[in-house]
Amino acid sequence: MSRKWWFTLAAMLVTATLFRNRLRAILERTYANIRAFDLPSAGAYDTLVGTALEGFDARVANEVAAAYPGGKVLEVGSGPGRLAVRLAREAPGMTLTGVDISDAMVERAARRAAEGAGLTERVLFEVGDVGALPFADQEFDAVVSTLSLHHWPDPARGLSEIHRVLKPGGGARIYDLAHWLWLPARGGDRLAQLVAVSPFGEGEVEIVRWPGSVPAFVLLRLRRARENRPTAGEPAARYRR
Ligand SMILES: C[S@@+](CC[C@H](N)C(=O)[O-])C[C@H]1O[C@@H](n2cnc3c(N)ncnc32)[C@H](O)[C@@H]1O
Repeated sequence: MSRKWWFTLAAMLVTATLFRNRLRAILERTYANIRAFDLPSAGAYDTLVGTALEGFDARVANEVAAAYPGGKVLEVGSGPGRLAVRLAREAPGMTLTGVDISDAMVERAARRAAEGAGLTERVLFEVGDVGALPFADQEFDAVVSTLSLHHWPDPARGLSEIHRVLKPGGGARIYDLAHWLWLPARGGDRLAQLVAVSPFGEGEVEIVRWPGSVPAFVLLRLRRARENRPTAGEPAARYRR
């Protein structure tokens, strides 16, 4: 190896040693982002992941508009607002509130709604945590969420909050990555337990095949009972695979 290469190698080693703490922090953050299927900024997420998921959003919007053609719908973890804006266009009888823990995501989502003619009256976004939703009891006819559940620090608490803000008889459709069902996480059982201990008490889990026939996503379908029933705690989730 020439002297130039030895010098470059030595310079790299010295830099890595001097900045090792910062490098470790960057690597840990990158690893956490990859694990959480997230990106470091709302813009990067919207541009890369959001664009790649355009077909998935279209499919979800279609299913949600068919299930809840009108009424007040809450989107939890609404991110950059792609789904809410699409839904508002597809279902003119629907009013949408998106809630997300990230200010940057909410700002981006609000900008997207403002760009769509006449949407700002029907589509609102606000900052909030699924663990303490900033809404009154029984405020919404339906709740939808995509790819957010795996981020929630306490998913059981999140389901409980979703139940609280739903009107009796209201439904929730929670789409997430199918990693919940992979063997190492024993996700199927975890989802069943989550539902069983939640005030919903029962629900259905379906594999969502997209793109094509790839079983990459999962849909948790829940409904708030019309009457309060003392069923929480019983293992009542059903699975359709
Ligand atoms: C992977 S992104 C999904 C965004 C959008 N739903 C989509 O499908 O593109 C996950 C979103 O969930 C939000 N999120 C994470 N934890 C949350 C919490 N505790 N409460 C509300 N939103 C949360 C994140 O800020 C992020 O916008």
